[in-house]
Amino acid sequence: MAEEQKVKEKPDFGILKRLIASGWKYKNLFIGCVILAIVLAPLGAILPYLVKDIVDNHILINDIPGLYKKSYIFIGVLLANVLLRYYFLYATSDLGQSVVKDMRNTVFAKLVSLRLRYFDKTPIGTSTTRTISDIQAINEVFTQGVITIVADLLSIVAVLGVMFYTSWRLTIICLLVFPFLIIATRIFQEKVRISYNKVRTQLANMNAFLQERISGMRMVQIFNAEDRQAKKFREINHAYTGANLDSVFYYAVFFPVVELISALSLALLVWWGAGDYLNGKVSFGALVAFPLYLDLLFRPVRMAADKFNTLQMGLVAGARVYKIIDSDEIIPNTGQVKIDGLKGNIKFDKVGFAYDDENFVINDLSFELKAGETMAIVGSTGSGKSTIINILNRFYDIQKGNIFIDDIAIRDFEISALRKNIAIVLQDVFLFEGTVMENICLKDMSIDQNIVLKAAKDIGAHEFIEKMPGGYDFKITERGNNLSVGQRQLISFVRALVFDPHILILDEATSSIDPESELVIQHAIEKLIAKRTSIIIAQAYDHQTCGQNFSHG
Ligand SMILES: Nc1ncnc2c1ncn2[C@@H]1O[C@H](COP(=O)(O)OP(=O)(O)OP(=O)(O)O)[C@@H](O)[C@H]1O
Ligand SMILES: [Mg+2]
Repeated sequence: MAEEQKVKEKPDFGILKRLIASGWKYKNLFIGCVILAIVLAPLGAILPYLVKDIVDNHILINDIPGLYKKSYIFIGVLLANVLLRYYFLYATSDLGQSVVKDMRNTVFAKLVSLRLRYFDKTPIGTSTTRTISDIQAINEVFTQGVITIVADLLSIVAVLGVMFYTSWRLTIICLLVFPFLIIATRIFQEKVRISYNKVRTQLANMNAFLQERISGMRMVQIFNAEDRQAKKFREINHAYTGANLDSVFYYAVFFPVVELISALSLALLVWWGAGDYLNGKVSFGALVAFPLYLDLLFRPVRMAADKFNTLQMGLVAGARVYKIIDSDEIIPNTGQVKIDGLKGNIKFDKVGFAYDDENFVINDLSFELKAGETMAIVGSTGSGKSTIINILNRFYDIQKGNIFIDDIAIRDFEISALRKNIAIVLQDVFLFEGTVMENICLKDMSIDQNIVLKAAKDIGAHEFIEKMPGGYDFKITERGNNLSVGQRQLISFVRALVFDPHILILDEATSSIDPESELVIQHAIEKLIAKRTSIIIAQAYDHQTCGQNFSHG
C-alpha cells in the first residue's frame, strides 16, 4: 500500500514514451490521429474569421451575392470541422483501444506465468485491477491525454494567430485575464488530482471489502455477521461518498470561477473594443468575431486541467501495469530437458525449503523412490506434506539440496515438460466455470472423449456425471460450487488419469469421499498406481494408506 502511494505521487514520463511506442505499432492510425489534430487546429479558428469577413466585407456594404457565397464556404468549413472531429474522436479511441487490447493480453500472459509466491502476497483484487481498470486508464492516455492535449495546444496557437492577425489590440485585451485563468487552472488541477487519488483509494477499499465478503458469504452468514458487516460497509461507503463529494466540490468551484474570468474578459473586450471601433481602430466584424475567439480560447484551457489529470492518472496506471509486465517474479525456465517417456525415479537429496526464505518448512529431506514404486506420506497437519508437491512440481524453488527425476535435476527440465509428467489430485480441488468435459480436459480439446469416458468409468465417476442434467455437458459454476466436495474430487481424479502421467500424486484425494465410493476408488487407485511412480499423502488418522511414516526436520 505504502509503495502504491509512492507510485501515485509522481507520474513517470518515461512511461509515456513506452506507451507511445506501443501505439506506434498502429502506425497508420497514429499518424492519422496526428494529421487530423494538425488539420483540425486551424479549421476551428477559421470560422470566427469568416464571420468577421462576412460582416465587414458583405453585410455592412449590402453585398448579398457575396454574402451567400461566403455563407456556403462557412457551412462547408463547419461541416468539414464536424466530420473531421468525428474521425479524430473515433481514431484516437480506436488507437487507445487497440493498444489497451494488446496490453491486456500481455498482462494476462505474464500473470499466468508468475510464480505462486507472487499470488501468495498479492491480493486477487490487485491483479484484477491491474488487468481491468488500470489498463482502462491507459486507454484514456490516448483518447483524453497526449494527442488531444497536443491538438488543444495547436488549436490555441492557431486561434491566437488568427486573433493577432485580426486585431492585435483586442487580442492583448483578451489575454489580460489569462494569467488568472492559468493560476486557477493550476490550483484546480492539483486539488482534483489529490482528491481523485482519494477516490481511487476508497474505491479500492470498497472493492477489496466486497470481494472478500462475497466470496466468504457463507462465513458471514454462519457467524450471523450480516449486521456487523453491513455496518462496516456503511463506513467504507461513507468514506467513498465523501471522497467523491470532495472532488465534485472543486469542480463546483472551478467552473463558475472560469465563467467569471471569461465574463471579465468579455467585459474588457466590449469596453475597450467599443472605443477602438468608434476611433476606427478595429472593424465592426472584428468586434463580432472576438467573443467567438474567446470561447475557442477558453474552452481548451478549461479542459486542460482535466486532461492533464487524466494523462497523469493514465501514466501512474501505466507504471503499475508495466511493473507486472516487467516483473521477474517467474520461476526461471532455463532448463532444456524435454522428455516425454520419463521412467519416474524420484530422488530428494538433502532438500531444504522455506516459503519465505526464512522459516524452513522442509529441512534436510532425503528419500528415493524408484520408478513404479508407491510412497505414502503421513503426517500431522501443517507438517509440510503438500509442500512436497509444490517443490517437486516447481511451483516454488527449493533453497537447499537437489531434487532429481530420472537423475536429472528438476531445474534442468523445461518447466512445462516437467509438469506434463506429473499429475496431481489436490487436497482442495479447484474447478473452473464450464462443462464437466472442459474441466476434465482443461480445454485441451484434442483429448479423445473416449479416453475421458473410460477414465471416468475406471474411477467410478461416470455414473454420477451421467445422472446430472446434460451429463458431461453439465455446467459447473464458479469454483465448482454446484458440486459436492466428493464429486469435485472424483472429477479431479478423472482429470489426472486422462493426462496419463508417469508420476502421480494424490494429496488426501479421498478425504471427502464416502466409504462406499472410496472402495471403488481404492480399486481404481490400485490400478492407477501400479504402472506409475506414486506419492500418496494422507493425514495421520487416515486408515487406508498408511505406509512408511514420514517425518522431517
Ligand atoms: N503458500 C504458502 N506460503 C507460506 N507458507 C505456506 C504456504 N503454504 C503452506 N505454508 C506453510 O507451510 C507449512 C506446511 O504446509 P503444508 O500445506 O505443506 O502442510 P500439510 O502437511 O499439507 O498440511 P495438511 O495436512 O493440513 O494439508 C505450514 O506451516 C504452512 O503454514
Ligand atoms: Mg496438505
